[in-house]
Amino acid sequence: MRSPMSRRRFVADAAAVSLTAVVPRGLLGASSSTRKVEVRADAEIGVVRPEFHGHFAEHLGSCVYGGLWVGRNSSIPNIDGYRRDAVQYLKELGVPVLRWPGGCFADDYHWRDGIGPAGQRPKRVNIHWGGYVEDNSFGTHEFIGLCRLLGAEPYLAGNVGSGSPHELRDWIEYCNMPSSSTLAEERAKNGSSEPFRVRYWGVGNENWGCGGRMRPEVYADHYRQFSVYIREFGGTKPFLVASGPNGNDTRWTRGFMDTVQGGVPDGISMHYYEGGKDQPTNFTAEHMSEQLSVFAKVEEAIIQQRSLLDGYSDGRKTRLILDEWGVWDKISKEDEKRFGALWQQSTMRSAVAAGLGLNIFNRQADKLHMCNIAQMVNVLQSLLLTDGPEGKSCVRATTYYAFALFKPHRAKTAIRAETDDSSPLGLSVAASKSDKELVISFVNPRHDTDLQVDCTVRGNTATSGNGLILQHQDWNACNSFENPNLVVPRELSAKVDASRMQLDLPRLSVATVILGIR
Ligand code: AHR
Repeated sequence: MRSPMSRRRFVADAAAVSLTAVVPRGLLGASSSTRKVEVRADAEIGVVRPEFHGHFAEHLGSCVYGGLWVGRNSSIPNIDGYRRDAVQYLKELGVPVLRWPGGCFADDYHWRDGIGPAGQRPKRVNIHWGGYVEDNSFGTHEFIGLCRLLGAEPYLAGNVGSGSPHELRDWIEYCNMPSSSTLAEERAKNGSSEPFRVRYWGVGNENWGCGGRMRPEVYADHYRQFSVYIREFGGTKPFLVASGPNGNDTRWTRGFMDTVQGGVPDGISMHYYEGGKDQPTNFTAEHMSEQLSVFAKVEEAIIQQRSLLDGYSDGRKTRLILDEWGVWDKISKEDEKRFGALWQQSTMRSAVAAGLGLNIFNRQADKLHMCNIAQMVNVLQSLLLTDGPEGKSCVRATTYYAFALFKPHRAKTAIRAETDDSSPLGLSVAASKSDKELVISFVNPRHDTDLQVDCTVRGNTATSGNGLILQHQDWNACNSFENPNLVVPRELSAKVDASRMQLDLPRLSVATVILGIR
């Protein structure tokens, strides 16, 4: 099987997993039941764009400073200032797209603060995330450098809330104009004669909230004005992303689309967080189930927002982007003090949440353009955790491994997959295929039910099958600095016979099976 990461390493890691790990009281009486699944290789949905597995990094807590960027003179191992372990892990995973510098930070960020000799850059107060002094040592060039190291497509979020159309059009010229203009020459003087060729541009962020508290009609007028001055330089046509709704706020989308008329954006950005009532490693079963159930609403929001956009004469042209998503738990004050604002541990529950989200993106592949998890390192549902800005440890969180399990779907064609239980906490399934392979991912979000999956494949014959599973019966289990490999994928055996596949899917698990087909 082509595993998302080195098979040998997965197996080695799996050996470190204690299958007799401490089980929270009340879990031992789990029941089991059989679920029927039908995968329809003949019913194509659309391409699983690699951008569905996109990322977001903000100047917030220790996401950028101390997480991704430690500086060239740091004693923490680094590559030109970028934390070496983080770069290595993220490269292994593959980062299709990276959005920066915010979030709320974006609408108070002035790009000129972050160019030129680092020592001469102005120091500003980060008013949104704790009032610390931002020294701007990580700016546009450092961000592009990170994207190049990771092989990620850059996505810059412009400032509408406290900025101007002039400022944003200049940033685009600075990045994309190949040569000759004063801004292109300034970029060359600052180290890059090559244009950055940035395609994705956000026109503000959450302009209903931290981006200016605007009404949708007011924001739409701003959008119209900004978009007039945004141009193509050197053949890089900007893809403009308008600030979209908070969750499934149809009033915002409608107000925006009614007003923007005639110049619809290339994309509209929806943000959907799945709030949690407990601290990450202290969830009750009830609160976990409540949080995981929210994903049914995310899927509904994607369907409804898409159909709302499609209702406008030129609305079909506007792509739907889930620009920020992930679990937002009750943040521990102690963790924030030690590791930075909004630092959040990722547990088995978080991995299940990631799997539910990624399965939805496959199922709704025809309605989405990009989805960015919030955030890449240390903040909210991050993939990597570091022990504070000075800390040397860098751990792959459970969410990292959930993303790794979904990597084989990238660039394949999503196909229909149905189960006999479509309730919010029922078995979640998604599938995709290429000429040679069929990839099926399963998520069992129940903490009290082990499942036997009986899967029929229509339209193809399976010749082989291999799988990986991420599972822990304790939903609060996590990869800590002391025990970084507690929750890692291990091999999963599936019984494959032509058009039928059977496997065991224990409670709280995320699994991917790859079938060879003919
Ligand atoms: O991701 C944290 C914050 O959540 C972002 O800055 C903002 O866009 C959202 O409200």
